[in-house]
Amino acid sequence: MTDIARGLEGVLLTETRLSLVNGRDGVLIIGGYPVAELAPNACFEETLHLLWHGKLPKKAELDTLRATLAAQRGLPAVTLGLLKAAAEKKLPTMDALRLGTDSLSLDDAKPGDTSREAHERRAMSIVARVPTIVATYWRLLHGQQPVAPDAKLGHAANYLWMLTGEAPRPAAARGLETYLNTVIDHGMNASTFTARVIASTRSDMVSAIVGAIGALKGPLHGGAPGPALDMVFELRQEAEESGKTLSNVTEVWSRNAVRTGERLMGFGHRVYKVRDPRADVLGHAAEALFEGAEDKQLYEDARTVEEVCLMILEELKPGRNLKTNVEFYTALLLHGVGMDAQLFSPTFGVSRVGGWTAHVIEQFTEDRLIRPDVRYTGPTDLKWVPVEAR
Ligand SMILES: CC(C)(COP(=O)(O)OP(=O)(O)OC[C@H]1O[C@@H](n2cnc3c(N)ncnc32)[C@H](O)[C@@H]1OP(=O)(O)O)[C@@H](O)C(=O)NCCC(=O)NCCS
Repeated sequence: MTDIARGLEGVLLTETRLSLVNGRDGVLIIGGYPVAELAPNACFEETLHLLWHGKLPKKAELDTLRATLAAQRGLPAVTLGLLKAAAEKKLPTMDALRLGTDSLSLDDAKPGDTSREAHERRAMSIVARVPTIVATYWRLLHGQQPVAPDAKLGHAANYLWMLTGEAPRPAAARGLETYLNTVIDHGMNASTFTARVIASTRSDMVSAIVGAIGALKGPLHGGAPGPALDMVFELRQEAEESGKTLSNVTEVWSRNAVRTGERLMGFGHRVYKVRDPRADVLGHAAEALFEGAEDKQLYEDARTVEEVCLMILEELKPGRNLKTNVEFYTALLLHGVGMDAQLFSPTFGVSRVGGWTAHVIEQFTEDRLIRPDVRYTGPTDLKWVPVEAR
């Protein structure tokens, strides 16, 4: 009898040209480029083109992609109505993103078209509108008027503009761009797998992306960068109030936390057994963003907390290879960009939707139904009993 691969760990589903995750050596390749090479240099549209078409765009291709995306950012009236209803109910932003994305089916001129061009057209329209859905909902939720997209701005800068209604600082736009590039794709993660399963039934692009958003919403996937940042803020406050150094306070707290079985947020990873390469990319981006910022000290303090936590994890959990993960610097970077912690997961979606759409197109091309097996453990010899006699 074959062994059960619980959680499908270690099971190879298919082949992809989109990203390579090597957890043993701490390597992440996106479309052929090491993440550290691509993420700080590319704009999000370039990374999208790389995933959708297998190569970076030439200047004219990039201009066309930027213009096409920018032209599609507006939301259909029905989507806006749904978001208003969701805001009245104070739904979490991830739920509003799922609802809003689902309604984009109503705006499809040729719903039955299953050609590759139609899939690509839908991918473009969804990727263009996901930031608009998040930003519009965020403002409605906080009693503010939505801000119309600005076609002159790139994807990342426009998202900030729609969230705040203020011209984004170039450093913040660059920081966000680097974040969006860094997390756009990451092997066969749960939401990407969900999207591919749905696509494998020859369903449609919107269904696959809505399913993926549902998978991303769960705390085991969308992650909790918020708590990692809270930890830094709380330790800072404790140091300030006690007059002790941050390093000292962190050491006492983290030693006690690990000894009592708590997990230090922002450390450890199921796949990466060395430092998560995305942590380095986002760490550098955060350093650049906080350089000259009002709260430059926050970056320094986060580094201190990281250093001490790594020392304590090595001391109390030797051999487990617990290193800094992507969440730690995501929190710092997105906070520096000016985002509330409640926006961290939806912003992850703003990026990952690029990867999802590319995987869905790949899966449509592969055209193989994903259908694993289970081992039945129930009885097999029950006899029918009428309802009155049960
Ligand atoms: C991400 C995570 C779930 C991966 O866990 P995993 O690969 O299944 O690791 P395990 O649960 O098998 O843990 C292995 C050991 O390391 C310990 N450990 C793992 N992460 C830890 C952390 N962040 N802090 C303290 N101890 C940790 C476990 O307690 C366990 O100790 P033991 O061997 O004494 O029982 C885990 O590292 C974690 O909970 N991290 C904190 C949350 C976080 O940052 N999540 C975002 C991930 S991107």
